[in-house]
Amino acid sequence: MIAELKDKLLNLSDDISLLILGCSNLNSLDDIRINALGKKGSITSHLKNLREYDDVSKREIGSLVNEIKDKINQEIVVKTQFFKKEILQEKLNIEKIDVTLTPQDNDTGTLHPLSRTIDELCAIFADMGFSIVDGPDIESDYYNFTALNIPTEHPARQEHDTFYLQPNNDGERKVLRTHTSPVQIRTMEKIDLENFDEIRYIIPGRTYRSDHDATHSPMFHQCEGLVLGKNINMGHLKGCLIEFCRNYFNAENLPVRFRPSYFPFTEPSAEVDIGCRKDKDGSLSIGEGEDWLEILGSGMVHPRVLEGVGIDPTVYQGFAFGMGLERLTMLKYGIPDLRPFYDSDLRWLKHYGFIPVDNPSLHSGLNGVFS
Ligand code: DAH
Repeated sequence: MIAELKDKLLNLSDDISLLILGCSNLNSLDDIRINALGKKGSITSHLKNLREYDDVSKREIGSLVNEIKDKINQEIVVKTQFFKKEILQEKLNIEKIDVTLTPQDNDTGTLHPLSRTIDELCAIFADMGFSIVDGPDIESDYYNFTALNIPTEHPARQEHDTFYLQPNNDGERKVLRTHTSPVQIRTMEKIDLENFDEIRYIIPGRTYRSDHDATHSPMFHQCEGLVLGKNINMGHLKGCLIEFCRNYFNAENLPVRFRPSYFPFTEPSAEVDIGCRKDKDGSLSIGEGEDWLEILGSGMVHPRVLEGVGIDPTVYQGFAFGMGLERLTMLKYGIPDLRPFYDSDLRWLKHYGFIPVDNPSLHSGLNGVFS
């Protein structure tokens, strides 16, 4: 009887070996292992029936079963290694790298030239102790005009080609801000006059006017500047803006001219021109020649504007300035037309764009401006 059982076990073992030999993948190999050696496996189950045998037979069958188990385990290990090698080889064939191929074009994005201008402005003014602030694009008539000494019937209102929003429930018509100057008012309103010495802010951001041609876009960008403190005067304004112009245009001796002008919110007011040469073919050389080019508006903050925000103009004075960022960008990089700024044409962006510099301080100005 025991001989019969041994034969049965040996036959079973041979059958399993054949199955292992013929199996074609790791999953079916695992099935074979479970069917043979698992808890209810064909080999294991024989150990459970040993109770019927005497001790000597038990030992004999027991050791035969263990031998068979070892043998099958060994065969499974060998077959597993075979499959793993096969899988690896397949992977290597697919993922083969041809080191002789020319490298693929790494199409990195570029910084929009306007972003670059904002970064540069922020860096230049940060060096002069300015902080950067932001304000809302949708403004009330009060901040955009009235608080800036532009009352209802003032002609400057017409010049601004304002976009008006539908009236709200209170009948108030908000506007898309026509300049960044309203943020001056918002900034001054927040000053804690008890603990105040001096502020220096620049405010880069989007502005809107219903105007559209080669040099005007309905959405454009300005950068406002505001300095307020005690004993601030026109000399500070001039020093600050000359420093800015020479830094921005990278020209140490760039001629800068202050021309009397008029803005309702400053008194006196001045427009700032830089020296250049305008050639007949339309090209422009900045810092050379006898011509002048207007680049920004500025002035001492009007006493009425200061009074409007509760600041005593006999104690505090300030200067402000405002500039168009598209214009500054076009001048610096020789970009002839404003319209492609917002066309998202990759060829234009590649031509005028800049590879981003990995310098976080240079990108601080983008916060909230291009979100
Ligand atoms: N807000 C003016 C504009 O949009 C620009 C400007 C001029 C701003 C003089 C100023 C300033 O702060 O002092 O045309």
